[in-house]
Amino acid sequence: MTAAIAVTGLTKRFGGRAVVDSIDLSVEEGRIMGFLGPNGSGKTTTIRMLCGLLRVDAGEGTCLGLDIRRDAAAIKRQAGYMTQRFSLYEDMTVAENLDFAARVHGVPDRKARVAEAVERMGLAARRNQLAGHLSGGWKQRLALAASILHKPRLLLLDEPTAGVDPQARRDFWDRIHGFAAEGMTVLVSTHYMDEAERCHAIAYIAYGRLLAHGTVEEVVAGSGLAAAAVRGGGPGLIERVKALPAVETATAFGAVIHVAGGGGAALAADLSAFCAAEGVDWEPEEPTLEDAFIHLMAGSRDNMAEGAA
Ligand SMILES: Nc1ncnc2c1ncn2[C@@H]1O[C@H](COP(=O)(O)OP(=O)(O)O)[C@@H](O)[C@H]1O
Ligand SMILES: [Mg+2]
Repeated sequence: MTAAIAVTGLTKRFGGRAVVDSIDLSVEEGRIMGFLGPNGSGKTTTIRMLCGLLRVDAGEGTCLGLDIRRDAAAIKRQAGYMTQRFSLYEDMTVAENLDFAARVHGVPDRKARVAEAVERMGLAARRNQLAGHLSGGWKQRLALAASILHKPRLLLLDEPTAGVDPQARRDFWDRIHGFAAEGMTVLVSTHYMDEAERCHAIAYIAYGRLLAHGTVEEVVAGSGLAAAAVRGGGPGLIERVKALPAVETATAFGAVIHVAGGGGAALAADLSAFCAAEGVDWEPEEPTLEDAFIHLMAGSRDNMAEGAA
């Protein structure tokens, strides 16, 4: 396996504050890496450093085998970047937007490439529509088409599916998997758990620090959490569940309360005693990726608070 991205100690400071703080990241060629974390945690900044748009303050490594410090311009040419707010020209048609993007990237054989992109992305029926008149899902598809016109080997997608309906999101992910199957490497930031679960690997960052990195299973297992479902309680039960020492989070899903907390036997011991006293049922469940992320974020907030004290 060849690494498409292999960086260590990646750091960016703004006004003396490290908003990306010594991140190590590796992504194998042809893989889809999901990039998750709360707003303001440094995802966009990291993506911009990786594709050569933003200077690195510290750290080293390679993107597509090129040095992230020395070869930023060459990386930029071989990477496709879809920004957080798709940059389309609303008063130009679909075809004109693509033609313009092809000129900007200096794509050879422009007409043929645009025609190919229109065909491949299912844009033929809309090629003469103004981009400004497209729905969110079609704008997203056009932006994706524009970002791959120059046949990048690495595609960086910054929250590409925010505000897009479920059918368009699903279609989008099928396309991303199609690209990966052809050898393209994809780094995609998202807030959606179902999307994270469609990635080969994920990285979770908070406050500029990388807190977890691996497959979904590895990240969930690494959290050390246990989880359970509590059923059959009346109003107010969830508040009492939350008050149990081993419980970190309790969330209602309809009539079922999903509980996550202290690994090992602590959660089971608390719930056994509690549920017997309340006259309700419980059973163990697998912890979810969302449980793991909430746990990681709470832990890092505590660390920050200690560091500040
Ligand atoms: N050009 C900039 N100048 C100063 N601060 C910035 C700049 N770009 C981003 N930041 C700050 O860096 C932090 C990380 O931002 P960003 O990478 O956009 O996070 P995310 O994409 O995870 O929401 C935020 O606190 C943001 O305000
Ligand atoms: Mg961002």
